[in-house]
Amino acid sequence: MDHIRNFCIIAHIDHGKSTLADRLLEYTKTIQITEGQMLDDMDLERERGITIKSHAIQMEYTSDNTKYILNLIDTPGHVDFSYEVSRSIAACEGALLVVDATQGVQAQTISNLYMAIDHDLEIIPVINKIDMPNAMPDEVEDEIVDLIGCDSSEIIRASAKTGEGIPEILEAIVKRIPEPKGDPKAPLQALIFDSIFNSFRGIITLCKVVNGSISKGDKVKFVQTGQEYTADEVGVLKMDMIPCPKLGTGEVGYIISGIKDATEVKVGDTITHVDTPCKEAIEGFQEVKPMVFAGVYPIDPNDYENLRTSLEKLQLNDASLTFQPESSQALGFGFRCGFLGLLHMEIVQERLDREFNMDVITTVPNVSYKVYDKHGNCKEVHNPSGLPDVTAIDHIEEPYIRASIITSSRFIGPIMKLCLDKRGELVSQNYVSGDRLELIFLMPLGEIVIDFYDKLKSISKGYASFDYHIDSFRPSKLAKLDILLNGEPVDALSTLTHESNAVALGRRMCEKLKELIPRQQFDIAIQAAIGAKIVARETVKQVRKDVTAKCYGGDISRKRKLLEKQKRGKKRMKQIGNVQVPQKAFLAVLKLD
Ligand code: GTP
Repeated sequence: MDHIRNFCIIAHIDHGKSTLADRLLEYTKTIQITEGQMLDDMDLERERGITIKSHAIQMEYTSDNTKYILNLIDTPGHVDFSYEVSRSIAACEGALLVVDATQGVQAQTISNLYMAIDHDLEIIPVINKIDMPNAMPDEVEDEIVDLIGCDSSEIIRASAKTGEGIPEILEAIVKRIPEPKGDPKAPLQALIFDSIFNSFRGIITLCKVVNGSISKGDKVKFVQTGQEYTADEVGVLKMDMIPCPKLGTGEVGYIISGIKDATEVKVGDTITHVDTPCKEAIEGFQEVKPMVFAGVYPIDPNDYENLRTSLEKLQLNDASLTFQPESSQALGFGFRCGFLGLLHMEIVQERLDREFNMDVITTVPNVSYKVYDKHGNCKEVHNPSGLPDVTAIDHIEEPYIRASIITSSRFIGPIMKLCLDKRGELVSQNYVSGDRLELIFLMPLGEIVIDFYDKLKSISKGYASFDYHIDSFRPSKLAKLDILLNGEPVDALSTLTHESNAVALGRRMCEKLKELIPRQQFDIAIQAAIGAKIVARETVKQVRKDVTAKCYGGDISRKRKLLEKQKRGKKRMKQIGNVQVPQKAFLAVLKLD
């Protein structure tokens, strides 16, 4: 146990976490890097450059003739995944705090850092990218000293590109990070921090043994779910899974126990022995509460069951995704999925497409609302079409977030305006260092869900970082905006919005839909309505287009090819009444200017 070091890396997106991890693996000869980065194994992650899922990897490192086992637990950096970050952090005794020498400390770095400090992790500050010509290591050093109150001599300057500072980082890991605490003789308590789906082995649970030990063949129980299993295989994670007879106190590894159902493994749950169970679960378990909801519908109704299986498999790898069957008049049978945020939603949609070949339509996302009736009963509504009749509603509450934005003082004006336009209230503003400020706002989450990130990025030219936590539910004056196509309400296009925005939003949605809905063989009326009142209208003029017109003569195979092509083009369309609506239209509200 005294030769084990469990640590994670806290860094803002693009500050070099993956590259640094690769260097550590390379230096310890855990891997030979050939090309690209090893930790992000999903193509999607590579493309987006965001570490979506936590992984763990073991390295061996010798210092002063003593061999150490270092377990690096990877953490996602995006705000949408903060629960996964908190579980990875709970499995560690130390953290490398990596800050880009050209960028300085960012909002997400701070919130993850606070989480690490809350868990009493030993923090090793690292200034990365010191090889860059525009690096400002002295300024960044001051920021870090202000932030964590450490001595500047404790800060390591490094470059994950050139390898400078890597030996110092490894030495700091073994010298400064404490060995895992825990009682080898106590009943087993292992913290689940991740799980992986493997089509041959079923569900693989990743955990850290906090107390006691687990051996191959043990009968174990998952405390929160109450399910019992046999540990068919236990082992450690290097580049491959390496089976071993036992995982002792403080060790990080995997357990395979023949679990097939994705929903049985919950990140944050505790594993114990059936015969000698621990008294209580490791604290801090929390069912992740999704805050953003959207309908996901198969384009081909026959794919409904496949979609369910695919979502179950995704859920296994992504404990924060939730889903429930729902139906829509416009889209048929599908699921209402709960996501942590908008990025999470996009990722799920892309993974459905790539990994499961599912063509789906996603509806406009919304947050969850608390709807109170006249008798004081409260109902949570995740879907605008689930809203009770207006006459039955006393008031509605919507979730508010506490948002932190760190930026240079020259962008303060436009950022203030953006936040105030989004119904934000300024709580405080503090200097971080030099001319960089942290602004704290209370804002409705519903306003962030739509297009906040993109706007913030563009007005600050990328020099603003953003992080948020759910703060409270507050009463709001909300209106339900419906969209009608040729007089038919399209439930999948309904949104809930603040009364003051509703008319303008209706107008912009009609304009946008006019651009997105292709002309068809008849006029299409697009209307926006609040209750019975029509507040905006646009028309898509008819057109007559016969794709086969240009192949005169009887070449039937050519004709068929053209029709096939047209059909493929239609795949991402949905028939609503007699109108063909493209997928893009269902997300139109997200891209309004
Ligand atoms: P996410 O996985 O998105 O959280 O990003 P990350 O923090 O893992 O960043 P990543 O390692 O992908 O690095 C981001 C970019 O910075 C890549 O283009 C790296 O090649 C580059 N980079 C990382 N470290 C250094 C460094 O020390 N010097 C220089 N010049 N570039 C670096």
